[in-house]
Amino acid sequence: MLRIESIHKDYPRGRSVVRALHPTSMTASKGELIAIVGPSGSGKSTLLSMIGGMLSPTSGRIVFEGKSLYEISVTQRSRLRNDQIGFLFQSFNLVPYLTAVENVQLPMTFYGSDRVSQRNEARRLLEEFGLAGRLDHKPTELSAGQQQRVALARTLAIRPNLILADEPTGNLDPESRDMVIRTLHDLCDEGRTTILVTHDETVSASAHRVLRIREGHTSAASPNRSCGAA
Ligand SMILES: Nc1ncnc2c1ncn2[C@@H]1O[C@H](COP(=O)(O)OP(=O)(O)O)[C@@H](O)[C@H]1O
Ligand SMILES: [Mg+2]
Repeated sequence: MLRIESIHKDYPRGRSVVRALHPTSMTASKGELIAIVGPSGSGKSTLLSMIGGMLSPTSGRIVFEGKSLYEISVTQRSRLRNDQIGFLFQSFNLVPYLTAVENVQLPMTFYGSDRVSQRNEARRLLEEFGLAGRLDHKPTELSAGQQQRVALARTLAIRPNLILADEPTGNLDPESRDMVIRTLHDLCDEGRTTILVTHDETVSASAHRVLRIREGHTSAASPNRSCGAA
């Protein structure tokens, strides 16, 4: 579903350039959970942003569901991103003045269906994540673990085929971390694909494959264990 063909990224910096990522190739299949592991500043977020259609590579191609991400129009790329790619961040990125339900509803409002069914779907997702008693709470009224569960529900509201997560468990207690990782695995079992950046060995150990990255150099994704669909 995803093919990365020799992409690299240079950031201009004054008269010189920073090579954030050296040429990298990889593929991700349906149902796979891939962990990207490496020290701070090694290029993990740069790689994830390029895969997510938010940052064009200096060279190379990213082919997602048969489309070359940076050779289609900006409008087509935004649509592809909104329809098929879900993002999850360490800092949750919830809208502070909206309730849990409203935050989850937000990505659905870009679609045609009516507000009542969107609200019901948002409720259902939150209840599934054990937040039935927190539907009308604002993010500041929730623990870190609860906030990430709201963020996860929001990510799933669009039913993404590809989930990109940047340190999604970085701010969580072990119990919440395990819940997030279990959910991501369930989603992969449903045939979705997850690529996540992590520092946490427990998290990377559960991935199907691990891509190690150091100073912009990636080493081939090593097999961890097999996954469902190919
Ligand atoms: N917008 C930018 N302009 C210049 N350099 C950047 C920019 N973003 C990141 N970098 C540099 O690129 C390298 C990789 O950064 P990043 O992908 O954020 O690493 P990581 O997510 O692994 O911590 C770092 O050396 C960083 O300083
Ligand atoms: Mg980063």
